[in-house]
Amino acid sequence: MKFFIDTANLAQIKEAQDMGVLDGVTTNPTLMAKEGIKGEANIAKHYVDICTIVTGDVSAEVIATDFEGMVREGELLAKLHKQIVVKIPMIREGVKAIKYFSGKGIRTNCTLVFSAGQALLAAKAGATYVSPFIGRLDDVSTDGLSLIEDIRIIYDNYGYKTQILAASVRHPMHIINCAKLGADVATCPLTAILALLKHPLTDSGLAQFLADAKK
Ligand code: G3P
Repeated sequence: MKFFIDTANLAQIKEAQDMGVLDGVTTNPTLMAKEGIKGEANIAKHYVDICTIVTGDVSAEVIATDFEGMVREGELLAKLHKQIVVKIPMIREGVKAIKYFSGKGIRTNCTLVFSAGQALLAAKAGATYVSPFIGRLDDVSTDGLSLIEDIRIIYDNYGYKTQILAASVRHPMHIINCAKLGADVATCPLTAILALLKHPLTDSGLAQFLADAKK
């Protein structure tokens, strides 16, 4: 399973990249705003900066919600860097835009996916990635992980190549369960990736080994 980091924070992206386990980055307008990145030129520069830190795919989201606007923005984003994947919302015009981009060889990430039916549409339109938001489903008392399971079954039934990118990941058990269910990618906050490292028996075992090495 690939690990993407879900942030626009350059320091956190560098930290994850330095660990050697990072396969890509996802951003969204909320994450960009959190870093104070405003204005078309600054936003474009920030995406390029991210692409220079990582070697994998970097999702950059369109703001337009009409077909023409999404195509215009998406084409500009795709031209910024070869690692850019155009992130498109799961709406009717978005499905059309994904189909258009797929025909042009521009890679897409279909975002704001909350049902298996939406994921099926994204795959039929030729999305490179589909982003089911598992944490936000959990927030409304719906099992986010069972959506990953359903999408995996549906995609495998028909051999869809769209990669399942589990998003809105909140904690290490989300990551582990996504891996068990066969998600292709999990995009996670740095805290969730670092939490995978931790085990008290590792800490106490290492402390013992270091103490014994001095004997
Ligand atoms: O990038 C989309 C998604 O990962 C957002 O996560 O935590 O805002 O639900 P969250």
